[in-house]
Amino acid sequence: MADNYVLVGFMGAGKTSVGKMLAAETGKKFMDTDELIVQQMGLSINDIFAQYGEEYFRNLETNLLKALCDTAHDAVISVGGGLPVREENRKYMKELGTVVYLSTTESTVIKRLKGDTTRPLLRGTKEEVKAKVHDLMSKRRDLYKDAAHLVIETDKLKKDEVVAKIVSYKK
Ligand code: S3P
Repeated sequence: MADNYVLVGFMGAGKTSVGKMLAAETGKKFMDTDELIVQQMGLSINDIFAQYGEEYFRNLETNLLKALCDTAHDAVISVGGGLPVREENRKYMKELGTVVYLSTTESTVIKRLKGDTTRPLLRGTKEEVKAKVHDLMSKRRDLYKDAAHLVIETDKLKKDEVVAKIVSYKK
């Protein structure tokens, strides 16, 4: 194993903020698949979805993950909320390192992402967003668990407590 941590979970689960703290704590490099794709394409996630469609974005995610399997060492890698849906991606993540699922309730996600305009899958009225979160989370929950070595329920924890749980996890 290349001594990486891979953080998975729904949009708004805190993968990026926890990931940055974990990287600082462990001296590892922080990487974020969304950020790497935005840099590679020179377009925002919204624009990639609008111009090329979701399937194209999912292929970018899989290609990036494959490349990271060859190149990433000693890193904390936060992956987009939809990336673990593909079975092959779950396999690549396990190759990459210790996979941690930051689990959250629907209501926490809805609260945290109120007013967010950067996620193309959560557009619409309050009711539409609520229904979409419910639908996506119901479909994904078991896939996140299937992908993970460690599951952390984060709703009642502070970020440093989440980081401490990850650091104390013995592989
Ligand atoms: C998505 C999650 C987003 C981003 C894209 C699609 C998803 O990443 O990859 O908007 O399908 O859940 P975050 O989980 O970092 O918000």
